[in-house]
Amino acid sequence: MTLWHGRLSGGTADVVMHYSVSLHFDRQLAHDDLAGSRAHVRGLGRGGLLSTDEVAQLLAALDLVEAELDSDTFRFEPDDEDIHTSVERRVTELAGDVGAKLHTGRSRNDQIATDLRLYAKRELLTAASEIVGLQEVLVTRAKEAGDTYLPGYTHLQRAQPVLLSHHLLAHGWALSRDVDRLLATVGRMDVSPLGAGALAGSSLPLDPDGVAEELGFAGRFENSMDAVSDRDFVAEALFDLALLGVHLSRIGEELVVWSTEEFGFAVLDDAFATGSSMLPQKKNPDVAELARGKAGRLIGNLTGLLVTLKGLPLSYNRDLQEDKEPLFDSVGQTHLALAALSGLLATITFDAGRMQEAANGPAVAAVDLAEWLVEQGMPFRQAHGVVGGLVRDSIERHVPLAELVEAHPALGSEAVSLLEPGVAVTRRTTPGSAGPLAVKIQMERFVHRLESDRNRIGFSS
Ligand code: ARG
Repeated sequence: MTLWHGRLSGGTADVVMHYSVSLHFDRQLAHDDLAGSRAHVRGLGRGGLLSTDEVAQLLAALDLVEAELDSDTFRFEPDDEDIHTSVERRVTELAGDVGAKLHTGRSRNDQIATDLRLYAKRELLTAASEIVGLQEVLVTRAKEAGDTYLPGYTHLQRAQPVLLSHHLLAHGWALSRDVDRLLATVGRMDVSPLGAGALAGSSLPLDPDGVAEELGFAGRFENSMDAVSDRDFVAEALFDLALLGVHLSRIGEELVVWSTEEFGFAVLDDAFATGSSMLPQKKNPDVAELARGKAGRLIGNLTGLLVTLKGLPLSYNRDLQEDKEPLFDSVGQTHLALAALSGLLATITFDAGRMQEAANGPAVAAVDLAEWLVEQGMPFRQAHGVVGGLVRDSIERHVPLAELVEAHPALGSEAVSLLEPGVAVTRRTTPGSAGPLAVKIQMERFVHRLESDRNRIGFSS
């Protein structure tokens, strides 16, 4: 029997049922749906719409439903269109006549919006704490890296030497903006829609404020039409996860490059690498590649939802059912990606020798020579020209740069010492720079930031 058997005669065509059913994915909202129903039932009790006894009967039936779900003995029926139908049907089977009062003053429109907000709040906070887990791996690896340096690249051309710790923390800071965004998104979605009804509220004495409080929301909706039609929170969640996915993708891309024989900066642990079905020698960076590849899917989930939303009139429209699969998918993929990349980074071996060898070419110290000339009083543009000319000469005439520097009247032996392996990176001393003293301060700030983010996440949970 459908929920609307009074209005429409006969049965619904099978194809309509197949086309519109959402139970196969919204059943993962079962616990949030039960939480919403419990709060709703108590609210109905406070409003005098249910007697104390009826409240107790309905709450007992909801507890039984929960126990059946937890023990996997809950039976979903072929006619259950969605999780709300399943729960209400079973409550009615268990509690008898009073089950018919469960949906008083409520619509599936405010119900689903409530369920999804509860789900999204929880999952985004979990994702935020998983990000901090990944950041902790980065900090550990950055501390272990000590004074190891490698070339920093622009345009994927060697530019200046940087500490490996600085490079790893660069990804760490991007991730802290992701944490920030997720917390802000959770803050904005912390509004209960329950009590908005189908779209316009109710003539019955509901208690949306009390219900919001019981469900742990910061407050209730201000406008019932907005409450049932707003999916900004899903779009924002998908954006946050898509941008996080882009950050993970960039980490993945670097690990792919670093683990090539050509670079040789990193060796993947066997547990986080895969082999080839045909080529016996292969060790492939599939986790890093998937982190890169799955960003496309996360971006697709965001754009798909935005397109679904863009032409919708107020208030609820069934199109909104299309919000859930992209959200569930992005959330699920994010949990997996963070776990896999954390493991990959925790176990990867960095080859300090290869990194430093690549950063020891004298040309990466070119700007240090120019800045040394600046310290001697030469205008920077002129110094840039002098050093650029020496680099060109060295390449064209196959003369070591050090020899040319030594012989140059404005440079000489003191300047040559800047070209010694490992010297250039120590000369980066400005705040936030890639040299050891600045990175030490940065590291302290980063660790402090992680602690405060852990607290912020705990406070919001
Ligand atoms: N499965 C629906 C959804 O996800 C629940 C709300 C149904 N409301 C309705 N008026 N048909 O949006």
